[in-house]
Amino acid sequence: MVEPKKILLGVTGCIAAYKSCEIVRGLQKAGVDVEVVMTESATEFVGTATFAALTGRPVRTSTFGDLADAIPHIRLAESCDLLLIAPCTANVLAKVACGVADDLLTSTALAAHDHLMVAPAMNMHMYESPATQANLTTLAERGVALIEPASGRLACGDVGQGKLAPVEDIVAAALAWLDGRSASRADAPTSVLDLLGKHVLVTAGPTRERIDPVRYLTNDSSGKMGYALAEAAARRGAEVTLVSGPVALDPPSGINVIPVESADEMFAAAREAFPEADIAIFAAAVADVRPKERAGRKLKKGVDDKALRIIELEENPDILATLAATKRPGQIVVGFAAETDDFIANARKKFASKHADLIVANEVGRGKAFSQDAMTVALVTSDAASELPHSSKREIAVTILDWAHSRLANNL
Ligand code: C5P
Repeated sequence: MVEPKKILLGVTGCIAAYKSCEIVRGLQKAGVDVEVVMTESATEFVGTATFAALTGRPVRTSTFGDLADAIPHIRLAESCDLLLIAPCTANVLAKVACGVADDLLTSTALAAHDHLMVAPAMNMHMYESPATQANLTTLAERGVALIEPASGRLACGDVGQGKLAPVEDIVAAALAWLDGRSASRADAPTSVLDLLGKHVLVTAGPTRERIDPVRYLTNDSSGKMGYALAEAAARRGAEVTLVSGPVALDPPSGINVIPVESADEMFAAAREAFPEADIAIFAAAVADVRPKERAGRKLKKGVDDKALRIIELEENPDILATLAATKRPGQIVVGFAAETDDFIANARKKFASKHADLIVANEVGRGKAFSQDAMTVALVTSDAASELPHSSKREIAVTILDWAHSRLANNL
């Protein structure tokens, strides 16, 4: 029998501590075994008896006092798959960032540094403060998964960012972690779960346009850019659908991969996923044309010479332009423009015809871009074009998602 996964839930002294009860319930419903550790100040808001009753386990608040469990912080850190601190106060966040270990929860967090997720909740001014922001950056750089607080009316009456993220988002993020889907230490550079609850559609790779069962027209796309985008979006907590042409890459875990071959198949799969998508990124190198006739058997020399010499072509659907023309308000659409010359000027022209919010222009040919791990791109929008430094596709993916995320946030 498979052992259930175990989450240690750290509860700190904040008005949102009562929501931790719902987090326990949400995790348990998904079959997760939950144990709770509280700080002393958390017990001012919710009693240990509440969590003990919910989890069926004793709730510890102190490192000391139980001779049968003399080193509880190490036992607790080693026995859980994930330590989730929710809500996490500014104080506990700061202690965890600095490695202070002056109570049971912070000592456990220090020992559980490589399987740690934090959902901060505090007043907006405390959240905005340079100290808190620096602590968040430190933790994100170390691969700690951060669930951004939501915006809204706070307990003190102020309106701004600082509310504990919705319980269902926290539960989803924790489950994604347990599935190996989301931010983990090895997956840095980013571990801020700012796309939780968002759907991201990515098309990737080349398409194959069949001439007969063994021959086809295709291109040099490796799919690396699209896969990097899909993985980066999933690391940020998004639910990702990756419509992929034939590539030699491993399917990323925790992502809904829809393998397709031709442009027509890619169009059908993308059209189905598009209405749900908050962000749609068309990174595939779709063949512009396909053979008008597709032979049902292998064409033979000496028998089918005319059909082998002259292949009549017809246009494929333009997936990006067709779907982007139907986009709803608030939906973000990103396209690519691979050009061998004058790549920014050509991307500007494409911007208008494709109805996209952003065109990522890149130079291809002569060993550039296709199959490479790094490339030079420019981000082209309705009013600006900015060339990024030559960077890895993973870094470019992060920049594109940063752009899309800020655009989504501004649309709210
Ligand atoms: O027109 P061009 O092929 O240069 O446009 C490139 C952009 O359009 C890319 O984002 C690509 O994924 C998308 N595209 C598409 N369907 C096509 C051709 C291109 O989605 N048939």
